[in-house]
Amino acid sequence: MGFKGGAHAEYLTIRADGLVLPMPETLSFEQGAAFFFGGLTATHFLIDRARLAAGERLLVAGATGSVGGAALQIGRHLGAQVSATASPGNHPLARSLGADQVTDYRKGPPPGPFDVILDVMGSLGWQAARPLLAPAGRLALVTADLGEMLGSAIRPRRYGRMVLTGTNPDTLPAMQRLVALHQAGGYTPVLGPVLPFADLAKAHAIAETFHKPGNLVVVM
Ligand SMILES: NC(=O)c1ccc[n+]([C@@H]2O[C@H](COP(=O)([O-])OP(=O)(O)OC[C@H]3O[C@@H](n4cnc5c(N)ncnc54)[C@H](OP(=O)(O)O)[C@@H]3O)[C@@H](O)[C@H]2O)c1
Repeated sequence: MGFKGGAHAEYLTIRADGLVLPMPETLSFEQGAAFFFGGLTATHFLIDRARLAAGERLLVAGATGSVGGAALQIGRHLGAQVSATASPGNHPLARSLGADQVTDYRKGPPPGPFDVILDVMGSLGWQAARPLLAPAGRLALVTADLGEMLGSAIRPRRYGRMVLTGTNPDTLPAMQRLVALHQAGGYTPVLGPVLPFADLAKAHAIAETFHKPGNLVVVM
């Protein structure tokens, strides 16, 4: 439902021609709930903004959460050479999702160069990412503060590289594209913690650590 705020509810009324699609039969309901969050952001930044091409070197920094877990799969599916940073416990997950090499972000970034860097948590930023970017490289800051957003709007091109920020628009064509990617074998949501509604406070506490694997789903 996008960034509208609101509450948790068991039922939601939605226009038939609104942001709703039949759930692919290949998904469980938990996977269906997890499907769009992360996947839409990854496709927006990798395809629409950074225009990732086959054979390019992609670094996903923060690679095993909702956005990163989708980005690894989609990057791999698009034919990129995929590198990832993750905490050591998540290295096997990152590899299983398509990373060719994985390093621990707490030991610093991998050496590069990269054609596209998806900085999921904004933990690199322009200063740290700049020496890692190949000529004509693109830095996508999925998490950016106001200064970085204004900076990328005023001065997106820097030394031949691009800095991209913003939020992904939730649209039906973008949702249909993600379903098509799933049907082509390029994306399946990563199910992390699945909790009952009674554990909603715990679910929020887990999500707010920003260290969960994949998507967190609450079952009603
Ligand atoms: N621009 C947009 O449109 C948009 C859309 C959706 C989300 N977001 C933003 O994107 C961010 C990530 O969302 P998410 O749902 O993917 O989060 P998430 O599921 O909690 O995943 C966070 C990921 O970041 C890693 N990480 C945590 N601290 C890190 C650090 N200091 N350096 C590098 N990696 C680190 C975690 O790895 P480990 O678990 O291995 O530590 C994990 O893989 C959030 O800030 C969210 O607000 C932006």
